[in-house]
Amino acid sequence: MQMDEDNVEAFHREGVLLSPNRLSDLDVDILLAELEYLRDETESSALEADGRTVRALHGCHRKSSVFDALTRLPTLLSPAVQLLSAQVYLYQLKVNLKAPFVGDVWPWHQDYSFWSGEDGMPSQRALTAAVFLDDVTEFNGPMYFIPRSHQDGCLDQPPLPVKDPLEWQSNFSSTLRYQTSAEHVAEMVRRFGLLAPKGPRGTVLFFHCNVVHASPSNVSPAPRRIVFITYNSTENLPRVLRRPEFLVERYAEPLKLFPGESLTPAPRL
Ligand code: SIN
Ligand code: MN
Repeated sequence: MQMDEDNVEAFHREGVLLSPNRLSDLDVDILLAELEYLRDETESSALEADGRTVRALHGCHRKSSVFDALTRLPTLLSPAVQLLSAQVYLYQLKVNLKAPFVGDVWPWHQDYSFWSGEDGMPSQRALTAAVFLDDVTEFNGPMYFIPRSHQDGCLDQPPLPVKDPLEWQSNFSSTLRYQTSAEHVAEMVRRFGLLAPKGPRGTVLFFHCNVVHASPSNVSPAPRRIVFITYNSTENLPRVLRRPEFLVERYAEPLKLFPGESLTPAPRL
């Protein structure tokens, strides 16, 4: 499921692209049902500040064949290969749950700061596909992007000292370890403006690993669950493997396309 040249160009120029293709309602239902099974998994989950509400689940593809299949759907994998001009493997998969009333902010940052700073990822040949599992509106904490900000390269501040006893979690709390300074954000917003892509459940959004982004808290009664699937070039393997495997996938063979357009198994004849 290749993208047309205009979309490819728009991704490289803007650093963020709403895909023309989306997942079906049935596929979203299948993913949500699978999430219910996975949310009791505590080792790889991060909690909100209340210490109770699950903020994020990591590495779902390692526990669930449904999430594994999702990463290989043509709707996601073909554009990832095309946009990175490389064979790709799955670097990271997480689901951010942004619970009603409780889901906290994600401060301004660039993803590549984490992957370079924590894992020694050599270059910026990685991108993320975000799959909306709920309708994302202006009310339930949509992501904010500074389009074109990836063109300025990696600008984040030096990492903040780690406060959490479980070190990896400090990269997933609302006080992120790597952040883009307010000065940089203000200056780039003056030049490039802001985007808050919204859309119905099933929407797919691709974004560059250096595009500056954030999201506000969710004070609405509606959840905002999004799966984040990060694809990396097989020629861009991290040099430091100290974070857990549910955050940094070690299996780096090129992903093989799922044999079907959707998660729904084809009916038997
Ligand atoms: C992220 O930047 O990794 C997550 C942002 C969000 O869930 O809004
Ligand atoms: Mn991010």
